[in-house]
Amino acid sequence: MSQAEFVIVANRLPVDRDANGGWRTSPGGLVTAMEQVMRGVDGAWVGWPGQPDLDIDPFDFDGMRLVPVKLSAEDIELYYEGFSNDTIWPLYHDVIAAPRYRREWWNAYRRVNRLFATAAADAAAEGATVWVQDYQLQLVPQMLRELRPDLTIGYFHHIPFPAYGLFSQLPWRRQVLEGLLGADVIGFQRVADAGNFARAVRRQLRYETKAGVVRVPTADDEARPAVVRAFPISIDTAQYEDLARDPKVRARAAEIRASLGNPRHILLGVDRLDYTKGIRHRMKAFGELLEDGRLNVEDVTLVQVASPSRERVETYIQLRDEIELAVGRINGDQDTMGHTAIRYLHQSFPREEMVALFLAADVMLVTALRDGMNLVAKEYVASRVDNRGVLILSEFAGAADELGSAVRINPHDIEGMKDAIVRAIEMPAAEQGRRMRALRRRVHDNDVQAWSRSFLSALEKTRTS
Ligand code: G6P
Repeated sequence: MSQAEFVIVANRLPVDRDANGGWRTSPGGLVTAMEQVMRGVDGAWVGWPGQPDLDIDPFDFDGMRLVPVKLSAEDIELYYEGFSNDTIWPLYHDVIAAPRYRREWWNAYRRVNRLFATAAADAAAEGATVWVQDYQLQLVPQMLRELRPDLTIGYFHHIPFPAYGLFSQLPWRRQVLEGLLGADVIGFQRVADAGNFARAVRRQLRYETKAGVVRVPTADDEARPAVVRAFPISIDTAQYEDLARDPKVRARAAEIRASLGNPRHILLGVDRLDYTKGIRHRMKAFGELLEDGRLNVEDVTLVQVASPSRERVETYIQLRDEIELAVGRINGDQDTMGHTAIRYLHQSFPREEMVALFLAADVMLVTALRDGMNLVAKEYVASRVDNRGVLILSEFAGAADELGSAVRINPHDIEGMKDAIVRAIEMPAAEQGRRMRALRRRVHDNDVQAWSRSFLSALEKTRTS
């Protein structure tokens, strides 16, 4: 296999093997963002093809070179479902669910991180740049540096990095910090995440950190600098704007409104079905507004798209039951023959359909209890080329740092969220336009291309210095 000058390493490939042996786009914000970065670059993407025991040779797909990493059913259970999504995910999202610390999972995490590091080392040309992605692969930067000291290594963390008091629960906290510090640049979503990481490094490892640079001790006594900084990720804004102007998509938006019975107001939530997203809090607020009579089911419908996610992890199984119980209760109490309170879809949809939904929705609800960035907030904004619609945005989503013109909420404050929903529904067109224009400017100026340029130029700088 020819070796690449630029290599992305992520837990998932941008495509997953489906049940019929075909390929479909993988879930989640990471893939959506990185897919754009790979366009027009002569590089390789190392990742898992989404099913157990798939032994596939590297292949070209949609202009990208994909290098599959084979994971067994046991790897998936211990490394992916276990350590990644039942230890790190809840711990890093402020223990909204209780993290489980199991030594067997940690051992599998180390073992599988080594598989990824080895695959990346094989795929990279001499002196290449390797960009490692996200919390599933925190040990890869250091492992890769040991295998291939000639490489320039970047790491981007797509989810929050928690405050020290929480992070320090992790029995393997030192190993994780050392793993990440194998990178030349370690990127985070928010300034606060970068600060939390630097603090953990100082407290746990006693390394010196100054002006966003950690001095990592090396064997030859000369400290190696590692840059720690925020690089807020974004979306391919132009793609959303184009879709939003496409007459077919606009017609579909009108069709969606009509099929819901043309309610006066449509509220929308779009999330992976995850306990970090605050879906229950949102439903509670909406259900109470109907109960209190402040909203009427004849006038308002909440469309909730909850795409299936991590369906074998116990916390997710429980969450699904709780949400479906809540939807059933609210609809049972509130629906009329012609109108439904919540149109709940436990499904994933193609991008065109999502943009049509964004255009159909008067109010977008992003109520995360904790979220690295939340790209859906940015997708909604980019799609509103008509400068209409209101974004309600949790202050606990990374996107809140940039999207100051959204209606900001604390999702734990149910009364506050109810008031915000009513305010959004009643917001005059002029105010909607003013806010939406300001939001759109932000998402237009900082799109995913700008994000990757800024990360990669910081990485390039470490090579030249
Ligand atoms: C988040 C994570 C990604 C992950 C995605 C989907 O966006 O930051 O790393 O890929 O969720 O989750 P999944 O477990 O299906 O890969």
